[in-house]
Amino acid sequence: YNNVMGYESTVTSPVNIAVVKYWGKRNSELILPTNSSLSCTLSQDHLNTKTSIRASPSYTSDRLWLNGFEEDLYASARLTNCIRELRRLRKEKENELSSSDLASPENLEAAEHHVPPLSEWCIHVASENNFPTAAGLASSASGYAALVQALSNLYDLSISLTQLSMIARLGSGSACRSVYGGFVEWQAGILPSGEDSYAVSVAPETHWPTLQALILVVSDKKKSTPSTSGMSTTVKTSELFPIRISEVVPKRIIQMKEAILQRDFTKFALLTMKESNQFHAVCLDTYPPIFYMNDISRAIIKLVDLFNSQVDEITKKPKGIRVAYTFDAGPNAVIYAEKDVIKEFIELVMYFFPRGTGQTSNSFFPDPFGLLKS
Ligand code: PMV
Repeated sequence: YNNVMGYESTVTSPVNIAVVKYWGKRNSELILPTNSSLSCTLSQDHLNTKTSIRASPSYTSDRLWLNGFEEDLYASARLTNCIRELRRLRKEKENELSSSDLASPENLEAAEHHVPPLSEWCIHVASENNFPTAAGLASSASGYAALVQALSNLYDLSISLTQLSMIARLGSGSACRSVYGGFVEWQAGILPSGEDSYAVSVAPETHWPTLQALILVVSDKKKSTPSTSGMSTTVKTSELFPIRISEVVPKRIIQMKEAILQRDFTKFALLTMKESNQFHAVCLDTYPPIFYMNDISRAIIKLVDLFNSQVDEITKKPKGIRVAYTFDAGPNAVIYAEKDVIKEFIELVMYFFPRGTGQTSNSFFPDPFGLLKS
């Protein structure tokens, strides 16, 4: 304990992309949603957040570094709520320690050197995303999922994934789904306490290994309207929103689970695209309206539509719905497709959106189908 450096824990968490969207809170402090949602957690190898947390008796304050830059940890009530909850659980664990544990050589040494218990040590958090932050690519989801898992490991808490999901939810709603891999439902719950509002696994990623996600980064700028303020204005002003919540989403959750369990790509794709469309429709129906997609986003929708309308040259039969788009709170597209289709679609994307064309079209932009004009 004279030279104790502290304890450290590092966790990498993946992002998840919703196919039935969460948009609207019924309680903004506890982050309780107006509706259940469903997402696919992407493979950890690609888009992820890596978070390291170190606790040391020599630290004098809690500190946070995001992508290498220090930020004020206390400025975020959500972050402090997650940390406070995990500290409370650690304290509970410390209080539960039996007298024999307290008499262990480690604890006796700690007592001798007047080292406070781990729950009272300050922490330093360093978190890095390997993709654009806050650009509508679910950075808060992987960020909070990594934070709560790293701190729970550091505190040696043996809590369930359900509990972890509820704590991640206090940071960012969608983060509660990143605690699981594969296909995940966030059950909205009905209790005011939020005890029944957490994520559950619908199917593991091994259930549909051929399903792939392709991310088309249209812009890596931070989104213009943060999701929290966007949701709150939608709930207050959109007349379409109550219909979506009461009539559309409950049915879609059931249908989407069926599509996933049956590995029915056509059904999955149609629901995913309609969901994305309706989410952006309620954003437009919000006053003042919220625009997350831009011209390039809309051109991608047209490109998907064009791809899905192709006819087989020999049989003259439609090739069917083979790719699906979805957009979150930003202009970037997530394309879902079966593995054998992805390459063909990427070739088309590279043709219409050659490297370096960026956010605006220029005179060298090939647009033979007028995708960007109309
Ligand atoms: O968890 P938040 O506050 O970042 O909200 C996420 C909202 C959407 O990404 C648009 C939809 C979703 O379900 O992930």
